[in-house]
Amino acid sequence: MLHAIIMAGGSGTRFWPASRRETPKQLLRLSGDRTMIQSTADRLGDLVPDARKLVVTNESLVEAVRQQLPELPAAAVIGEPCKRDTAPCVGLAAVLIAAEDPEATMLVMPADHVIRADSDFQDAVRHGVQLLEADPGRIVTFGIAPSYPAESFGYIERGQAVDSKTASDGENGSGGENGIESGSTAAYQVTRFREKPDAATAAEYLRSGRFYWNSGIFLWRAVTIIEALAEHEPAMLKRLQTIGQAAGSEEFEQVLQREFTAIEGKSIDYAVMEHHDNTVVLEAPFQWDDVGSWQAMARLNPADEQGNTVLGQHLGLDTSDSIVYGGQDHLIVTIDIDDLMVVHTPQATLVAPKSSEQRVREVVKKLEKGD
Ligand code: GDD
Ligand code: MG
Repeated sequence: MLHAIIMAGGSGTRFWPASRRETPKQLLRLSGDRTMIQSTADRLGDLVPDARKLVVTNESLVEAVRQQLPELPAAAVIGEPCKRDTAPCVGLAAVLIAAEDPEATMLVMPADHVIRADSDFQDAVRHGVQLLEADPGRIVTFGIAPSYPAESFGYIERGQAVDSKTASDGENGSGGENGIESGSTAAYQVTRFREKPDAATAAEYLRSGRFYWNSGIFLWRAVTIIEALAEHEPAMLKRLQTIGQAAGSEEFEQVLQREFTAIEGKSIDYAVMEHHDNTVVLEAPFQWDDVGSWQAMARLNPADEQGNTVLGQHLGLDTSDSIVYGGQDHLIVTIDIDDLMVVHTPQATLVAPKSSEQRVREVVKKLEKGD
């Protein structure tokens, strides 16, 4: 059966001050009226029932996540005692799910992306499921056509086209009789997965025309990822299995605390994806944005006639091409400004030229160090 895992333990530091430890990016409303994690859960439509959705987040966010997703059973929101990146997060989900449903297929989704349209996303997942039916040992990734040599993404190199109905390489062509229109989503064998290359390498990848960005969404059988962790991260898997064995018992919290804390943090991209040799990439038929910064947020929302993107209450006199973000109960007034971002929250206010948006991370680092 298909299970959905929402990874929601990241911090999204470039959205400071809206994004803070207790309200990271995934809990914010950055476009539309749903928060990013709510949109992620909505995106599944009828593909996965609530009973088969699992959210893995930091323990400090569990209550907030449960409030934002009241349709999920409380037990479906798991809190990690500390940040250890995404490999332990998906590994723990795999161990827990496989114990209940050994045949389980897992759709792993980041909680903080904007994807349009939901129906295109669901078509892609259905196609991915077909690819797994043809060869259950595969890992299915969803590739995005790269538009610039970003250093903050994983890169996936495509090889030969694969047919969703066969395990071996073959001519591309997803069967119309399976509900996916032929040609709507092409799938290829992956020849290389490289996480966050430097700028020069990323530029080379772009020039070759053979690479996609990794969208961060994965589809695999729970047993496949468990086997991959057994091969590449045996110590991590051992601790995760110890946690899994305690599931449902009184000691669970204590075992989780002890074992999870002892795990060395690593992302699934470095831990498994760079090494796995049976990966396919499905060309994503949906629009995708990982909403990495304030300007990305501005791209996703309509601007007014002066080019301002406003979320909250704003009065502007001769204000243009700016980003204004604040609550509904606080009026932000700007006069004679251009190309600025003004972000107000009850705890902090940020004013900076839009071109300095990447420096927001420096602020977070300084504040964390207590400078
Ligand atoms: N539960 C949990 N625990 N979730 C986490 C943790 C953690 O310790 N760390 C991150 N996450 C969640 C984030 O909230 C996000 O939804 C997702 O996992 C991915 O983590 P990021 O930290 O945002 O990863 P990234 O953006 O640097 O890189 C990944 O995503 C890119 C696309 O946005 C990689 O998969 C790249 O290859 C990919 O291109
Ligand atoms: Mg990310």
